[in-house]
Amino acid sequence: MTNETILVTGATGQVGRRLVPRLLAWRDSGDAVRVLVRTPEAAAGFEAAGAQAVVGDITDAADRERALDGATSVVNTAATFRDPSVEESGMYAVNRDAAVSLARESAKAGVRRFVQVSTIHVYGPGIGRPLREDDALRAPDAAEGERHLVYPHSKREAEEQIRALCEESGFDVITLRLPFVYGEGDPHIANALAHFNLGALATHAVMPMAHHADVAQAVQRALRTVRPQQPGYVAYNIAGDAPSTMYEFFELGGREFDVAAAAGRSVADLWAGVPDTTRAYRDLGFRPIYPTAKAAWRDGAL
Ligand SMILES: NC(=O)c1ccc[n+]([C@@H]2O[C@H](COP(=O)([O-])OP(=O)(O)OC[C@H]3O[C@@H](n4cnc5c(N)ncnc54)[C@H](OP(=O)(O)O)[C@@H]3O)[C@@H](O)[C@H]2O)c1
Repeated sequence: MTNETILVTGATGQVGRRLVPRLLAWRDSGDAVRVLVRTPEAAAGFEAAGAQAVVGDITDAADRERALDGATSVVNTAATFRDPSVEESGMYAVNRDAAVSLARESAKAGVRRFVQVSTIHVYGPGIGRPLREDDALRAPDAAEGERHLVYPHSKREAEEQIRALCEESGFDVITLRLPFVYGEGDPHIANALAHFNLGALATHAVMPMAHHADVAQAVQRALRTVRPQQPGYVAYNIAGDAPSTMYEFFELGGREFDVAAAAGRSVADLWAGVPDTTRAYRDLGFRPIYPTAKAAWRDGAL
C-alpha cells in the first residue's frame, strides 16, 4: 500500500490547530500530514511537531500546486469569517473560490478524497424540523451592508460548486457541516457571548454545538471511511446529540442568563439551525465523545 499524505489547510485556525496533532498521532507509519500555512513561524511550529509544511496562501494557484504535490487526501478547513478587516470579496475569495479551485486541482492531482469543512449555516433559515443533508441550501445572498450573510453564502456557494465538480468528474468529496465548535481552550463561547444581543434572547433558544474532539473524529472518519457507493459528493451534519439551551450556553461561558428578562420572549422555530446527525451515525460510525457541551464541561474539556 502506498503511503498517504494528508494536506490540511487552515491548520493555524481554531479547528486546524486541534485537528493536526490528532491526525499526526493517528496516522499509520510512513504516512505524512502536511499543512499549508501563511507564515514561516507557523510552518516551523508544525514541522517541530512532525508535520510537513508549505508556506503559502490558499488563494494563490502556485502555492496550492506546491501544497498538493504528492498529496493523497485533503482536508480544507481554511476560511475567513472572524477578521473584520477582510473585505466581502476576500471572504468569497477564500471561502468559495479558493476552496473550489483546491478541489478541482486536487482531482487533477490524483487526490483520492477531499474533505470540505463547511457549516450548518449553509441551510439558511429554519424549516420547522431538524436539518437533513438533502435539504435545500438556502443561505441567502448578501445585500449591501449585510456582511453577516457573506460567510454562510460563500460557504454555500463553495459546496454547490464543489458538488457540481464531483457530478462532472466523479471526484470523491465528503463535506462536513459543523455547528458552533468549542472546547479545549477555544475562546469561542466567551467571544460569542460578548456579541450576543441580550435584548433578543429567549429562554428556549438553543445552540447546536460540536466539541473539537468530535470535529477531529468526524474528519478522521471522513478520511478513512470506505464508501459503499460510487465516489462523488456526500455531505454530513456533525454535532453533539443535543444542542445547549441558552441558559446552559451562558452557564458554560461563566455568565448569568437573565431568566426573568427572557421569559416573555418566544422562539419562532425551535429547530432553526439544529442538524440531524443520523447520516453521520450510520455511514461514518460517528458517535460524539461529548454528546452535549455540558457533558464536556463536566469532564473539564472546555
Ligand atoms: N469554529 C466554528 O465554530 C465553526 C463552525 C462551523 C464551521 N466552521 C468551519 O470550520 C473551518 C475552520 O474554522 P476555524 O474556526 O478554525 O476558523 P479560524 O480559526 O478563523 O481559522 C481560519 C484558518 O484559515 C486560514 N486562512 C484564512 N485565509 C487564508 C488564506 N488566504 N490562505 C491560507 N490560509 C488561510 C487561517 O490562517 P491564518 O492563521 O494565517 O489567518 C486559519 O488557519 C472553517 O472552514 C469554518 O467554516 C467552523
